[in-house]
Amino acid sequence: MPKKVTAPRLREMKAAGERIVCLTAYDYPSAQVAEAAGVDVVLVGDSLGNVVMGEPTTLGVSVEMIAHHTRAVRRGLSTPLLVADLPFGSYGASIAQALESSFTLMKAGAEAVKLEGDYPEVVRELLRVGVPVMGHVGFTPQSVNKFGGFKVQGRGEAGDEVLAVAQRLDEAGVCGVVLEMVPATLSAKVTQSVACATIGIGAGIECDGEIQVWHDVVGLSDKKPKHAKAFADSRSMLNSAVSQYVSEVRMRKFPTEDNSF
Ligand code: KIV
Repeated sequence: MPKKVTAPRLREMKAAGERIVCLTAYDYPSAQVAEAAGVDVVLVGDSLGNVVMGEPTTLGVSVEMIAHHTRAVRRGLSTPLLVADLPFGSYGASIAQALESSFTLMKAGAEAVKLEGDYPEVVRELLRVGVPVMGHVGFTPQSVNKFGGFKVQGRGEAGDEVLAVAQRLDEAGVCGVVLEMVPATLSAKVTQSVACATIGIGAGIECDGEIQVWHDVVGLSDKKPKHAKAFADSRSMLNSAVSQYVSEVRMRKFPTEDNSF
């Protein structure tokens, strides 16, 4: 029986040099596959705005949407840590707002929440009421308009600020911090400077772990980000399965007697 992954365990895994494998999931079957494959952390990411809803950014995602998908993922998981994203506009206005949003996600089955940016005070308050937190620095998709597009962050001197934010979040007690689209040299530096686990996406090999989006890993995405790799061609496989279904129904080859009562 695999050992349950908890939020405190992520710091222990880092200390022990164990790689931490993280993957997003948005529904019951993808959660079951992540569980069976031995993923350590499953994130109900606000990337659902992009990959599930087909939107250009994550900004339209609400707490209710994340809670809805968290409930589905919860039913398919037991061993991995289940983290739910705090979406845009659900924690930046006040600590009270962050608490209320997080309570909704924890009641939906999350075991930790993730927030983007420099919010050590929010992290402390969430921990005070029993909510573990994961941070997210570098390219933070909720700030895409501030960055002027999907751009690598933390190059050159700008890396000092990314490092400083990661350190503030670490001191506040996050279990881990996602480093998204930053130079590999910077993630190596952050990884050596914090006690929490660093989880990379487009951040090189030196992080304590890696996170990728479900649709990219299984080859379902209509775009291929540079930081991603498709480990299967699910889109072609699904296209051919559905085309075959269409053709068999039209040709009266399906249903057969075996499918009839
Ligand atoms: O929303 C998401 O999927 C994420 C990961 C890409 C880290 O935040």
